[in-house]
Amino acid sequence: MKILVVGGAGYIGSHTVRQLRRAGHEAVVFDNLSSGHAGALPGDVTLVRGDLLDQASIKATLEAHQPDAVIHFAALIEVGESMRAPGRYYRNNVVGSLNLLQAIADTRKIPLVFSSTAAVYGTTDAVPIPEDAELQPESVYGETKLMTERMIHAFHAAHGLPYVILRYFNVCGAAPEGDIGEAHANKTHLIELACLTALGQREKMMIFGEDYPTPDGTCIRDYVHVQDLADAHVLAVEALHAGKRSAATYNVGLGHGFSVKEVLDAVDAVVGGPLKREVGDRRAGDPPRLVADASNIVNELGFQPHFTNLKDIVQTAWNWHRTHPHEFRK
Ligand code: UFG
Repeated sequence: MKILVVGGAGYIGSHTVRQLRRAGHEAVVFDNLSSGHAGALPGDVTLVRGDLLDQASIKATLEAHQPDAVIHFAALIEVGESMRAPGRYYRNNVVGSLNLLQAIADTRKIPLVFSSTAAVYGTTDAVPIPEDAELQPESVYGETKLMTERMIHAFHAAHGLPYVILRYFNVCGAAPEGDIGEAHANKTHLIELACLTALGQREKMMIFGEDYPTPDGTCIRDYVHVQDLADAHVLAVEALHAGKRSAATYNVGLGHGFSVKEVLDAVDAVVGGPLKREVGDRRAGDPPRLVADASNIVNELGFQPHFTNLKDIVQTAWNWHRTHPHEFRK
């Protein structure tokens, strides 16, 4: 298959391009490089530098490359920033996705795999969280993802566009080869920050609250390895192409969680020494426990995560950061 990977130069996109090619597919990347990196892609991948806000450019790309399916990663992803700059988030994530959907409907009506997030659930008491849990995002970011999910449903109903929506939990780690990995301009993710602290780029790790109703008092998250997540996209696109699925929404996670302290203990073990830690206040908007009920993607698409051990996950992140302290910058 030939897959158009929109936002394919980003963290999850670049790992997905790699796994698509390993599975024997061809990838064409469409990316505005606002946060992605051309250096995260193999040299022989076609990269179309374009923006979803320019509908003519995505339409021309679909017509020129005639893909069999689209995977859509392109989005702004920072929860805090989305609250300060909602206009940018609605325009980029919702209008951009609308342009893509309309371009697909107007040209080839090919299947779409969409990157959604556990942030669509907001704070919920469900443990683990099934896909039919209540949807009440607490951030503009989560809202833009939910709005896009709803647009996808409408385009499916009206134009028959087949889709799989994947709701990611906490994506982490890096390709085991250590040559590509997480490289966000604004660092907020726990494992990435801990690796940078181990490299001496930060002074200490802050633990955001240890008075949560969890066994060790710190928040619990479901950490899914980026390469396993990439494989979930390959499975989704193949199921759509084979006509085995035409409208499905899946959580992607391990189905069990680790606390902030467990993650930091794993980082200490991998980097060979304790990082300086300090307990601070809770971070606004952090629910105590977010764990996926991932049984549907396991049962229906055959998803089988390979990275289930926290130290193995952290080791891959550490390989990347240790060997690329300046990320993709030379
Ligand atoms: N944390 C710390 N110290 C830090 C950074 C994080 O204690 O320096 C804690 C957070 O409070 C949280 C946990 O580590 O309890 C994980 O935080 P991350 O920032 O790594 O990830 P989040 O759980 O906040 O969010 C991520 C994505 C969201 C997605 C969510 C789904 O960024 O887009 O996972 O579970 F919606």
